[in-house]
Amino acid sequence: MVRSVIQGIGSYVPPRVVTNDELARLFTTSDEWIRTRTGIEERRFAEEGTTCSDLALQAAQKALEDAKLGPTDLDLIIFATLSPDHHFPGSGCYLQAKLGAKNVGCLDVRNQCTGFVYSMTVADALIRTGSYRNILVVGSEIHSSALDFSDRGRDVAVLFGDGAGAAVFSASNGDDRGVLYTELHADGEFTRALCMDIWDISHKPFITAENLESGKIWPQMDGRTVFKHAVTRLVETVTRTLARNGLKPEDVKYVFPHQANLRINQMVAEKLNMPKEKFLSNIQKYGNTTAASIPLLLDETYRAGKLERGDLLLIIAFGSGFTWGSALIKW
Ligand SMILES: CC(C)(COP(=O)(O)OP(=O)(O)OC[C@H]1O[C@@H](n2cnc3c(N)ncnc32)[C@H](O)[C@@H]1OP(=O)(O)O)[C@@H](O)C(=O)NCCC(=O)NCCS
Repeated sequence: MVRSVIQGIGSYVPPRVVTNDELARLFTTSDEWIRTRTGIEERRFAEEGTTCSDLALQAAQKALEDAKLGPTDLDLIIFATLSPDHHFPGSGCYLQAKLGAKNVGCLDVRNQCTGFVYSMTVADALIRTGSYRNILVVGSEIHSSALDFSDRGRDVAVLFGDGAGAAVFSASNGDDRGVLYTELHADGEFTRALCMDIWDISHKPFITAENLESGKIWPQMDGRTVFKHAVTRLVETVTRTLARNGLKPEDVKYVFPHQANLRINQMVAEKLNMPKEKFLSNIQKYGNTTAASIPLLLDETYRAGKLERGDLLLIIAFGSGFTWGSALIKW
């Protein structure tokens, strides 16, 4: 039986650290407000001129090195982002050229904070067909140039940071390790609860001065609705994932939740009666890096030597769309 295993993993964050106090100099907020409501202490912002594929390149090179593979060993690049280099072509093509993975197919996934889970599900399914052996899955985001750093946008601006994470999924025969299960969900009734319009393709011209002036170009969020649905959906998805795989919470070594808000993840752990320490976090250092958050957390945990062969890892994510999902991996 062919399974997909994580053969290599890597991540990258830009060096510039931005503290909560620094944000408090730009608009009305405080370190205390941000920490107590979100758990975030600092985040990274890239230098102006840096694109999402630039960050992805750094993470991808580390993942390939870890997998002991070269760029042309890849059969496909799947690129998850909500902050692409340009509207088109997809960021996967920009990354492919920078990486030197000539002629390797590229697929962009636009599923926001659930982007990595959607992407790895596609990678896993393609590998299990037997036609693909090595697929690079990248999540990368430049949020810092697309946040409203005024009082109007402060609820969103404090949450997000820049970063990238990547994993090489490879075919493995006769191995009981690898991706065991994934599930994906969405509820399009909530597209307006967390969105960024920038432009409206039904209008000519599709970008107007009014859009710029009114603030429509910035992300909009109904924070309470997002919070409430995130907790409910994540609890549901963990419960179903465990039940469908005949597992108990104690069988899982670590949960790798998307890093949106420390309080969301702690509440999910509490409702599931699972120890909070099992729910790993690095949101304190990076804020919400959307599609990058899960591979970034996986990479840090792996490089800290915390993962042993055979460990059962549960990945969960929720985000704009609304979209959500889970993945169960035997390391
Ligand atoms: C954004 C979030 C932290 C706000 O926390 P909250 O406790 O719901 O706060 P509220 O939105 O009720 O706002 C409370 C007050 O703080 C104010 N406020 C909002 N942002 C603020 C900021 N950065 N600093 C200080 N005050 C702020 C509000 O204006 C409001 O003031 P008011 O009571 O005078 O009207 C919280 O809703 C959240 O985390 N939601 C989920 C967001 C998320 O995860 N998004 C990504 C999903 S992938």
